[in-house]
Amino acid sequence: MAPRLLRRTPKVESPNQAINGTRPSIDAPRPKPRRPAHVPRHVAIIMDGNGRWAKERGLSRQKGHRAGAENIRRAIRAAGERGVEVLTLYAFSTENWTRPRAEVSALIRLIPRFLKSELKELHENGVRLVHIGDLSALDNNIRKQVVDAIELTKNNRRMTVALAFSYGGRAEIAHAVQRIVADKIPVSKIDEDTVARYLYTASIGDPDLVVRTAGEMRLSNFLLWQSAYAEFYSTPTFWPDFDGDAIDLALEAYAQRVRKFGDVAPKVEKAPKSSVGRGNGAKPAR
Ligand code: FPP
Repeated sequence: MAPRLLRRTPKVESPNQAINGTRPSIDAPRPKPRRPAHVPRHVAIIMDGNGRWAKERGLSRQKGHRAGAENIRRAIRAAGERGVEVLTLYAFSTENWTRPRAEVSALIRLIPRFLKSELKELHENGVRLVHIGDLSALDNNIRKQVVDAIELTKNNRRMTVALAFSYGGRAEIAHAVQRIVADKIPVSKIDEDTVARYLYTASIGDPDLVVRTAGEMRLSNFLLWQSAYAEFYSTPTFWPDFDGDAIDLALEAYAQRVRKFGDVAPKVEKAPKSSVGRGNGAKPAR
């Protein structure tokens, strides 16, 4: 088990409240909040520790994942209120397909459940939903629900939430190469911007901050290309307990970092050249 030294007790909303039906609303102010310069534009989170969270409470792993899914609502709200423009959440990796069948199907069932309970409110609050990963492994019905949710929210501009499901960084890069070749892009025209435009993340750009919960220090095949110059932050807090206070700690840590992108002088609000698709004005290749 990971050391829990820095763990903070959630103060306000516990996932149990969410499970028991007292749910916070995603009621961040309607006009797009102005993002202070020290707040990362794009935060990507490796949501880890549902199993350990459940074990500590004598619950099944499935219950842990359910609490994790409930916490997504709280994370979106907290990130939006703090001015984060893009929140990418790693929900299921290409490697997670090897987990026991019952756990995989419980995780997959969380998608329609999440859409049923959250989509309307997310849409009303100007949240654009996108998916990164390979949806082809999902059954038609669930895939259609995801595609419909993406279509419904595609013009929303207040915040973007990218759900990484059936996502793997290596598979994403291989997929991008296949499409570059299929599109017959001349070798002389292929540079970092080209590759970035062919990644699943073309419309959301690179993360400024990658957070991993539950104390691990791995990327686990998450946003391998895009994280080249991301700041990394790990917290011992399990994902279902990752609340607004925990986000504040992550953002405080980020605000202390000096980002130089390989240069000698700090760079403010500047990403490396390969980072295309910053914000909603991106021109993805697909
Ligand atoms: C890894 O930690 C977590 C996952 C593989 C699943 C994460 C999924 C969610 C947070 C919910 C997904 C929600 C939707 C709507 C798709 P683990 O559970 O393996 O934790 P452990 O390492 O403590 O066992």
